[in-house]
Amino acid sequence: MPDKTIAAEAARRRTFAIISHPDAGKTTVTEKLLLFGGAIQLAGTVKGRKSSRHATSDWMEMEKERGISVTSSVMQFAYRDRMVNLLDTPGHADFSEDTYRTLTAVDSALMVIDAAKGVEERTIKLMEVCRLRTTPIMTFMNKLDREGRDPMDLMDEVERILRMRCAPVTWPIGMGKRFRGVFNLLDDRVHLFGAQHAGGIEAGETIEGIDNPRLDEALGEQAEELRDEVELVREAGNEFDREAYLAGELTPVFFGSAVNNFGLQELLDRFVEHAPPPQPRAAETRTVAPEETPLTGFVFKIQANMDPNHRDRIAFMRVCSGAFERGMKVRHARIGKDVKIANAITFLASDREHVETAYPGDIIGLHNHGTIRIGDTFTQGESLKFEGIPNFAPELFRRAVLKDPMRMKALQKGLVELCEEGASQLFRPLMGNDLIVGAVGALQFDVVAHRLRTEYGVDCQFEPVNVSTARWVYSDDPRQLARFQERQQENLAEDVSGALAYIAPSRVNLQLTEERWPDIEFRATREH
Ligand code: G4P
Repeated sequence: MPDKTIAAEAARRRTFAIISHPDAGKTTVTEKLLLFGGAIQLAGTVKGRKSSRHATSDWMEMEKERGISVTSSVMQFAYRDRMVNLLDTPGHADFSEDTYRTLTAVDSALMVIDAAKGVEERTIKLMEVCRLRTTPIMTFMNKLDREGRDPMDLMDEVERILRMRCAPVTWPIGMGKRFRGVFNLLDDRVHLFGAQHAGGIEAGETIEGIDNPRLDEALGEQAEELRDEVELVREAGNEFDREAYLAGELTPVFFGSAVNNFGLQELLDRFVEHAPPPQPRAAETRTVAPEETPLTGFVFKIQANMDPNHRDRIAFMRVCSGAFERGMKVRHARIGKDVKIANAITFLASDREHVETAYPGDIIGLHNHGTIRIGDTFTQGESLKFEGIPNFAPELFRRAVLKDPMRMKALQKGLVELCEEGASQLFRPLMGNDLIVGAVGALQFDVVAHRLRTEYGVDCQFEPVNVSTARWVYSDDPRQLARFQERQQENLAEDVSGALAYIAPSRVNLQLTEERWPDIEFRATREH
């Protein structure tokens, strides 16, 4: 039964994450957006700055940052009549697995690009992840206050490399020293550049109409340049098309300078208007609509608490339908157990108190003592499992080597638990007794070693191992699969869920094996 309040609350939610290459300005954009939302006390306190640039092995520092960021990993703020949830993603590339999973929990994404650098490698990777669910993307071209690349060039690059049409919504007036503002193509309005560092509202005069003589007064010869460029853009460029945007085929593009809090208002206004509210979500047995009364949600991220003395972890659950009330009983669907949630964490930026009510699109933090895994579904009794929260094939592999052989049991338990919560991935080869840990970034090994020591009392080292990539293997033909398993035993392993994976010593080997076994599917992701 659809519920009116739930439907209305869901409809005004906008849940998104920022994708960008380190240094493009994600942290700065986040801060400024929070300012617009009135979460002023957070200005200048958004964590993660600099972390992306310090490839430090000083894990304690990283942990401190991550620990603190539990509270800022989801930032909720009201803007106009909307409620916006911004899901933060780790700044450091080594934790990109966390970022990938966070992207499974959003309804859209904002891509921030440094206008001097264009499309960079990490952005490409994150776009691939967004493609898995055809997530709609808005684009912010940042740092126009500096000399950068030609705006047309930048959009060409996005179209070519990211295979998405670009529809400029704003157009920059000059750049670097000549940066004078942006022209809003949809509203036919010029917004003159005025730096604004502190308050929420953007500075700078607005001028209605591109033919307004006031524009010539204000901009001199740049007014005519703007008119010429806009004419060209209107002829050659794509128009904003909401359907194409929602289908992930077209990205609305905005220009500005985050550090000067300029150009973001235009972005946020369109964002709350056009970005998708929570969508129906596929579960194994059916599709769940947000306005359904019973609560459902899934866990997309688990984060260890700062305090190593108590093994408390926070499981981040995205609400998919219904309303969550403090103290309500929910069913942990995988283990079929009902649990009462008394002390869930809310992420409302201005009020960190315990959550009272959460609606579809909202995130709540559940205290977890080891029973909750990534991908787990919570319901009000229904046996349900949401899809689309994959594991991503690791790119780095190491063998776990124990210093004290007597601690083998503890090592196994620790690795299984840490892998279940997504800190890294465990592979047990079918032959031999190796414990192979896979990660997307090298720092994940430091994290696991550190946590094994502090939380499980196990001293272990990670040594190189002859595995360069992994693929989960499937086949519709059980006989083929059995034959494959028999012939390829030395390169097969079970992951923590018992799923079979081919662990290839090299990319070439993987390619040859794929060619040799056409009836076997080699997948780079696995559903939880
Ligand atoms: P990230 O989270 O994507 O890694 O980027 P972050 O926001 O930390 O920004 C990276 C650097 O780019 C910072 O400079 C930041 O001030 C700068 N920046 C962000 N937006 C703009 C902009 O619109 N124009 C210009 N010119 N710079 C911008 P930093 O010197 O590394 O750090 P800080 O000392 O300024 O904090």
